[in-house]
Amino acid sequence: MIALRGIRDKGQVQPGQKVLINGAGGSSGTFAIQLAEPYGAEVTGVDNKGKLDFLRSLGVDHVIDYTREDFTKNVKQYDLILDVIAHRSVFAYQRAVKPNGTYFVVGGSVATLFQILLLGPWIKRTTSKNMRVLVVPQNRKDLIAITELCEAGKIVPVIDRRYQLSEVPEALRYVGEGHAKGKVVITVT
Ligand SMILES: NC(=O)c1ccc[n+]([C@@H]2O[C@H](COP(=O)([O-])OP(=O)(O)OC[C@H]3O[C@@H](n4cnc5c(N)ncnc54)[C@H](OP(=O)(O)O)[C@@H]3O)[C@@H](O)[C@H]2O)c1
Repeated sequence: MIALRGIRDKGQVQPGQKVLINGAGGSSGTFAIQLAEPYGAEVTGVDNKGKLDFLRSLGVDHVIDYTREDFTKNVKQYDLILDVIAHRSVFAYQRAVKPNGTYFVVGGSVATLFQILLLGPWIKRTTSKNMRVLVVPQNRKDLIAITELCEAGKIVPVIDRRYQLSEVPEALRYVGEGHAKGKVVITVT
């Protein structure tokens, strides 16, 4: 639902637009890639080195290894950034946004979220860059939309591993080690 709202409903991605997904190899990111590609967007995925081939296999056009490169410091700018793991300052992120472009943060450090809430409106007035916290309420309509996209084969939930409820510590350890691609599922029987 983060992906649906960030890429399609609020992001309103258009063909040819440059889209960057920060934290692209995680659970929301893998959906966001699949939603952005059919719109003809040029997608850049940011995640750790071990996930870059995986991101390419999902169809991203460009990859950035966050352990080696800070996308806010290269000269490239994007029409839309969807950030699930923000931790830099709002000024760093706004450098990577094109004029009239949009930066949506859905998760990350509390400090960054507050900065964006407080300074986003001022940045919009002074630079025409849209810096916003994307709130994603859960609702039936979006769940149905996602289900239909999955059933039609237009998006595929990426499930890395499945664990039993009794294996939750192991599942959390796996996620914490930074290897999980897409979702890790706990099966409750
Ligand atoms: N706004 C709302 O209404 C709303 C609603 C629900 C949830 N949320 C938030 O939305 C976020 C959802 O994220 P998710 O479920 O997709 O997370 P996730 O599955 O944990 O994926 C995050 C990805 O980001 C990568 N990553 C870690 N540090 C990074 C960095 N510095 N730069 C780039 N990538 C990095 C992780 O890789 P590693 O393996 O290297 O760590 C992982 O692949 C959560 O923060 C959640 O709290 C927001």
